[in-house]
Amino acid sequence: MNRRFSEIGVAVIGSGFIGTVHLEALRRLGLQVRGLLEASPELGERRAEELGLPRAYASLDDVLADGEVEVVHVTSPNALHYPQVAAILGAGRHVICEKPLAVTSAESADLVSRAAESGRINVVNFNLRFYPLNQHVRELVADGAIGTPRLITGHYFQDWLLFDTDWNWRLEPEQGGALRAVGDIGSHWLDLTGFLAGDRVAAVMADLETFVKVRKQPAGPVLTFSTERAAETIDREIRTEDVATILLRFESGARGLVAVSQVSPGRKNSLRYEIDGSTAAVAWDSENPDELWIGRRDEPSQVLLRNPALMGPAGAAASSLPGGHVEGFADTFKSLFRAVYTDVAAGRPSERPPYATFADGHEEMLVCDAIAESTRAGSWVPVTRSA
Ligand SMILES: NC(=O)c1ccc[n+]([C@@H]2O[C@H](COP(=O)([O-])OP(=O)(O)OC[C@H]3O[C@@H](n4cnc5c(N)ncnc54)[C@H](O)[C@@H]3O)[C@@H](O)[C@H]2O)c1
Repeated sequence: MNRRFSEIGVAVIGSGFIGTVHLEALRRLGLQVRGLLEASPELGERRAEELGLPRAYASLDDVLADGEVEVVHVTSPNALHYPQVAAILGAGRHVICEKPLAVTSAESADLVSRAAESGRINVVNFNLRFYPLNQHVRELVADGAIGTPRLITGHYFQDWLLFDTDWNWRLEPEQGGALRAVGDIGSHWLDLTGFLAGDRVAAVMADLETFVKVRKQPAGPVLTFSTERAAETIDREIRTEDVATILLRFESGARGLVAVSQVSPGRKNSLRYEIDGSTAAVAWDSENPDELWIGRRDEPSQVLLRNPALMGPAGAAASSLPGGHVEGFADTFKSLFRAVYTDVAAGRPSERPPYATFADGHEEMLVCDAIAESTRAGSWVPVTRSA
């Protein structure tokens, strides 16, 4: 018999914007959150108290010395994912790592091998898959309800890096990686649409631009999405992209087009996609996540309001509330973690996990490599996969 979630011990690394969302979802599922690791023991103590956690760990070694911790969530800045995840797998623990899995594809490839050797459950937190309507779309497309997907278009726009006074660790390639807007949010769009269409990107033609070439870095630390202006700043040259426009060819022959931006005034967190198939289309917007547009030619198009009674089994399973009671971003973590911890409780990964694994995280790193190379070369570049 599978164990109860309340018997499973968990630790969380990082307690910033997304670490806190992880923690809240873990609590909703009744998992035993034993403590957190922060950038310093002092910050850890303060955050553990604020968040009502039993303890702060002094170091990653300290986390891994806690025999009750079976699963570690990694929500630290991108460049820390690789060393932290490698150590966690080395200590035989399951791991849920935030996206992007690593800052280079060499690192992500290594983590895929280490995860396979360890036999541990390995997850990349591409949570957008777990909006109930996205689970439903995945089933619709797989069942042929829109015919053959032909054209996949959309965008991921935010505005929180619009001004030259906006600053975050993501702007520094050493912490965030060489691709910024694409690695940070474009990777979500690419993972989601690939998941929905059951397809992979074969080649890209990308154009990246940095519009804000010099930014004012505050002399002190900054919280993600903070809008406070620092009094003392240092001018810093920016090398990572604010905007990307990318043409896509999928392995199936479908074509795609996505725009990614962190400087689109008024767009707070707008991911949109439309998948046009040979018989119908579907379109969705993350800022209105309980509505799915279903386009038809010879009969009226429809808007499906999320409702467990009107979706297939996957959509219904990802829903926690009846229709009309809006479910949003934080709820996707609960559905995703429920799927992951069902496997943890069973003691092994499922044969075809519904969540993104390290292999999926590595796949996005390879697409990002092709995007970077395409913008350098000014031409189409295939996604190179070894084997
Ligand atoms: N899935 C999503 O939708 C989503 C959304 C936001 C962020 N993310 C990802 O989550 C990660 C964190 O992003 P964020 O927005 O929460 O950033 P953040 O800056 O708000 O939080 C990062 C946290 O990590 C802590 N930290 C820094 N160094 C550390 C260390 N050595 N050990 C332990 N903790 C350390 C910081 O103190 C902070 O609490 C990134 O990889 C990002 O891409 C994913």
